[in-house]
Amino acid sequence: MKHPDNHVIVLFGATGDLAKRKLLPGLFHLAQAGLLPDGYRIVGSSTSRSALSDDAFRKHTHDAVTAFGLSEPSGPVWEAFEASLSFGAADPDNPKPLLAAVRAAEDSLGRRPRRLFHLAIPPPAFRSVIAMLGDTGLAQNSKVIVEKPFGTDLASARALNEAIHAVFDESQVFRIDHFLGKESVDNILALRFANGLFEPIWNRNHITHVQIDVPESIGIEGRSRFYEGTGAFRDMIVTHLIQVLGIVAMEPPVTLDAQPLRDEKTKVFEALRPIEPAHTVRGQYEGYRDEPGVAPDSQTETFTALRLEVDNWRWAGVPFHLRSGKSLAQRREVITLGLREPPLRMFQADLPRQVRDHGNKIVIDFGDPGWIAADFLAKEPGPAMFLGPARMAFHYADTFTQAHGLEGYERLILDAMLGDQSLFTRSDGIERIWEVSAPLLESPPPPQPYAPGSWGPEPAITELIAPYRWYLPDDTGAYNG
Ligand code: BG6
Repeated sequence: MKHPDNHVIVLFGATGDLAKRKLLPGLFHLAQAGLLPDGYRIVGSSTSRSALSDDAFRKHTHDAVTAFGLSEPSGPVWEAFEASLSFGAADPDNPKPLLAAVRAAEDSLGRRPRRLFHLAIPPPAFRSVIAMLGDTGLAQNSKVIVEKPFGTDLASARALNEAIHAVFDESQVFRIDHFLGKESVDNILALRFANGLFEPIWNRNHITHVQIDVPESIGIEGRSRFYEGTGAFRDMIVTHLIQVLGIVAMEPPVTLDAQPLRDEKTKVFEALRPIEPAHTVRGQYEGYRDEPGVAPDSQTETFTALRLEVDNWRWAGVPFHLRSGKSLAQRREVITLGLREPPLRMFQADLPRQVRDHGNKIVIDFGDPGWIAADFLAKEPGPAMFLGPARMAFHYADTFTQAHGLEGYERLILDAMLGDQSLFTRSDGIERIWEVSAPLLESPPPPQPYAPGSWGPEPAITELIAPYRWYLPDDTGAYNG
């Protein structure tokens, strides 16, 4: 394992939701795992409107780790971590407090530590912060993590890339999509490319359809300022779900290094057909317009389901259905690959639909810690040949110790410190995804209402996926115990 050089990590958006839920607890977990550099300082930043004192930032971090961390903020590792925290506000026209905080952090580490900037801020704020990093000279000797969504359409993604490249060389830029840092997404590469059982069947000759289904049970959790301008398509589909699709559909890369891996993923995006509004269902949960900060006539979608086609030799004719939304029945992260059914005429003619549908699937649950199952039909014990549903399953939690597991953000922040861009997105891939999204962004179908706790607007979602059916809700209880 490589160990990162000494770093000053500057967290923009340090008082925001992402920092509280994931980044501050994640940095503390990295410290506990001994994966932070020997010398590190963490400087929180925000505009002066929500600035904190150093002590208030330490307390804020303590509360965030208590609420969302894996373990209590106490003991010697916590004390060292807490002592590394400071705060420096930065407004576009007044970066002085931040400059002073970064300088103090660097002086306390001695030599010349590297700088890592994490832009955990809403997309409209990216450009002014990047320009400020250039103008102040902070960009030197640094790397920058840019949050998703990267732009809101092709033109804005291109403009953002230009603004970034005016200040940073591409080798310094880490466009983050934390789904790519999830253990069980990374494991798809192992499953596909290390196993003779799966590698030969991973194509249109054996797979009839693919689903990537990421329902969430939470609503927008007070994030209306971010969410109203973003919506489910930009928040989840164009980012996380299509990146996962890239991993599921890519050709084998020559190695797992950044360039070959990202080249292969980008080729998948090149092969995507433009997204048709007629193959898209947009939904809005009932009650969304009553959330504080949401316009009473908001057209923002809190749900998107759509069909994508990867028009290449491996996947032509295989529909990829993607679905994600807020306030749905369950929180799940599931990929299902439907296998071509063999002729079943030697078996009972009245095989129930749910038994028949059960067989011939590979299911990858990439929620932490995740599991993989092959669903098949087996002979039920007894004198006659009756088929029943059966499952071969691998459960991460039962098979490997979780002690070395890292959450998506933790893994990616570590990779960024190490300068490894493999699991970060690249501008050509992102621009291509925006390009195929243009028809939908230009003529989005109106959002259809759905009941909180449902699976999205009916009958639209059932019609979208016909003749297949959504795998969720599944028979988790019966098979995953
Ligand atoms: C974020 C989205 O990127 O991912 C959120 O902005 C979403 O809306 C979250 O809830 C889901 O990530 P995770 O890791 O909690 O599954």
